[in-house]
Amino acid sequence: MPEPMLPDNLIPFNRPSIEGREIEYIQTAVEHGHTSASGPFSQLAVDELKEATGAADVLLTTSCTAALEMAAILLDLEPGDTVVVPSFGFVTTALSFVRQGARVLFCDIESETLGIDAGRLAEIMDDTVRAVIPIHYAGIGGQIDEIRAVLDEWPRAELVEDNAQGLFASYKGEPLGSFGRFSAISFHETKNFICGEGGAFVVNNQADADRAHVIYDKGTNRRAFLHGQVDKYSWQDLGSSFGMADVLAAYLYGQLKEKESILAKRRHVFEHYRDALSPLVDSHGIRLPVIPEHCEQSYHMFYVLLPDAEARNQVLKSMNDDGIYATFHYVPLHSAPGGVAVAARELACPVTDDVSRRLLRLPFYTSLAQADLDRVTESFTRAVDRL
Ligand SMILES: Cc1ncc(COP(=O)(O)O)c(C=O)c1O
Repeated sequence: MPEPMLPDNLIPFNRPSIEGREIEYIQTAVEHGHTSASGPFSQLAVDELKEATGAADVLLTTSCTAALEMAAILLDLEPGDTVVVPSFGFVTTALSFVRQGARVLFCDIESETLGIDAGRLAEIMDDTVRAVIPIHYAGIGGQIDEIRAVLDEWPRAELVEDNAQGLFASYKGEPLGSFGRFSAISFHETKNFICGEGGAFVVNNQADADRAHVIYDKGTNRRAFLHGQVDKYSWQDLGSSFGMADVLAAYLYGQLKEKESILAKRRHVFEHYRDALSPLVDSHGIRLPVIPEHCEQSYHMFYVLLPDAEARNQVLKSMNDDGIYATFHYVPLHSAPGGVAVAARELACPVTDDVSRRLLRLPFYTSLAQADLDRVTESFTRAVDRL
């Protein structure tokens, strides 16, 4: 058996945990005999997710990246098409569309919720744009209404939400992930609800569901065959092996059944950090997450913006020396070698550059114990006191 990855006295950035009946469900999935995709636990998890999101359909995928790749295939991108992604973002938010031939317009973020800046979006839009893909950073809805207003002017451009971090969060009372034609969720071990690696493709218009299932089923009409609609199934379209194994869906379903307690524990982590660090805002010039009134967050992350890059790096080092694995986040996409190679044109992203240099994330996971929370905030406080 492998040894645990970290000695007990270290506080990792993330630690997966068993929160309910996950192990029992995994065993049942194996004993039931359907361990591949689209099995009984997948159906149970899909039902939970459909109810939570109000989606027309939900397809469990091998990752959030895979779900974004499905969105890209469904858009039928053509040469010359572009997509807009925030430069303060995850590589595959852009890469999934690049693989289908798109070039990328990297948009700057606004400094409050760290999502796409709708004003900047309006400036960079043109008629090559086929999709705008906002990230709901830290599971907080950003300028969704404003982004939709921009898109109203550009009918070729679809909204695709990268909701990797925002399951069960809402914006003006509507679930994150319900605004776009498609959205994508992550169940990677670093997320709120986990199964190792996994994701979900959320289809908000019924008209997209049939083709989504063909793409999902390796380009075949296998689903129509299983429903008795055709007498054999065959290759129809583009696609891949996108489906999540039912053993992992069993793990995921065990987590989803603990939704309330997982969210409550994560809320406690967030509030502990917020309460402990609020006094440092004025005294030490740090900035904590902003949750607009109309947003219900997912309690995915706690970040701090330090006054400058040097301060951020010193605090990181000091906390790491204390055995606490605080970390930075996205390296700007627009200036990374891969991003430069696929950019439709050069665009400045000064807020992204600034935030990326100053942002620090504190350890954040569902099973983070009170004593460890105290160690984290004490270590952070000591580090900023020394700046
Ligand atoms: C915003 C965002 N998009 C996409 C992903 C990719 O998720 P996955 O690892 O499930 O493919 C992540 C993962 O960290 C993410 O944070």
